[in-house]
Amino acid sequence: MSNYIKKLNMNKIIILKSRPNGLPTLQDFNIIQEDTPQPNEGEILLKTKYVSVDPYLRGRMRDEKSYIEPFQLGEAPESGIIAEVIESKNKNFQKGDFVNGILKWKEYQTSPGNGLNKVDRKYAPLKAYLGILGLTGLTAYLGLTKIGRPVSGETILVSGAAGAVGSVVGQIGKILGCRVVGIAGSEEKTERIKEKFGFDETINYKTAEDMKQAIAQACPTGVDVYFDNVGGEILDAALQNMNRYGRVVNCGAISLYNETKIPQGPRVESILIKNSLSMQGFIVRDFVKDFGPAQKKLAQWMEEDKLSYMETVVEGFENIPRAFIDLFEGRNTGKMIVLI
Ligand SMILES: NC(=O)c1ccc[n+]([C@@H]2O[C@H](COP(=O)([O-])OP(=O)(O)OC[C@H]3O[C@@H](n4cnc5c(N)ncnc54)[C@H](OP(=O)(O)O)[C@@H]3O)[C@@H](O)[C@H]2O)c1
Repeated sequence: MSNYIKKLNMNKIIILKSRPNGLPTLQDFNIIQEDTPQPNEGEILLKTKYVSVDPYLRGRMRDEKSYIEPFQLGEAPESGIIAEVIESKNKNFQKGDFVNGILKWKEYQTSPGNGLNKVDRKYAPLKAYLGILGLTGLTAYLGLTKIGRPVSGETILVSGAAGAVGSVVGQIGKILGCRVVGIAGSEEKTERIKEKFGFDETINYKTAEDMKQAIAQACPTGVDVYFDNVGGEILDAALQNMNRYGRVVNCGAISLYNETKIPQGPRVESILIKNSLSMQGFIVRDFVKDFGPAQKKLAQWMEEDKLSYMETVVEGFENIPRAFIDLFEGRNTGKMIVLI
């Protein structure tokens, strides 16, 4: 009997067992169980509801210095999570509140509440706070407007266009009066972003024989803003189609995240010089002071039905690693989320 009660109180945790070598595999993760924690004075007990899995987490699985600490072996990775407050010993939170923040891949965890924001399903489905109303939407909006600075009538090219960030970039480009061309990895995806999000033209990079030529064909007046989510050879091809004074927004480089040796690309200096191009990387948190107004703008466009989103929802706590790995195989359309 006591064993049975103990089992009921067990908490599931996913840990990073080994650092991936190339594409991550399920063997790099493990599920363990430990006692469900109890909140101390000033803390809350949280039950995980939705987990965001994101390409950048791959970088944190390397033992390398970066803009954010690497995950430790034997410990639970963390990512954006929506959780329910199950018990509160903190006056700022009540049982039944939902919060959003960077939390561990654990079914239950305690927190002092720092860095957690309350979210309300009255305004939007809870999952939306991990996507369009969260860092995904902010990355798309702030990267495009602060670095891409598109002007009505210009051509925006976006890669990873059927993904979480890319699909929002394309829609914002349309709202701002631009011609938008999206690059994605299947016919199904290219069709969906045309139909659902109003992309003017699309390129399937998996079937295009020559990406430089395919971009030239899809962008007959050249590219003014290239919003890059993938890096590598697609970036090389885009650079060769940029108009004078064009802006390249380096948001992500997923095509390189699993490389054990980064391939040497063509040298870009002369392309940048000849065309007076600017190329700028960013981390969305660079613009943290703009998060409030940006979130308001995104919510307003959603309310006006100008902005919508797609998501791929995978069910089950134990499927978090699978969902994460699937990002690198293009199995998601829109934001990849795990429902617990
Ligand atoms: N700078 C920042 O602050 C910031 C913030 C958020 C995200 N990001 C970056 O933005 C990019 C998109 O993130 P997301 O969350 O929106 O992910 P996502 O695009 O929803 O998911 C990843 C997609 O990337 C594509 N992909 C995978 N491997 C690829 C490859 N080798 N070559 C080309 N495409 C590949 C797949 O789509 P296909 O089927 O089309 O191949 C996949 O569905 C990532 O690089 C991420 O790291 C940056």
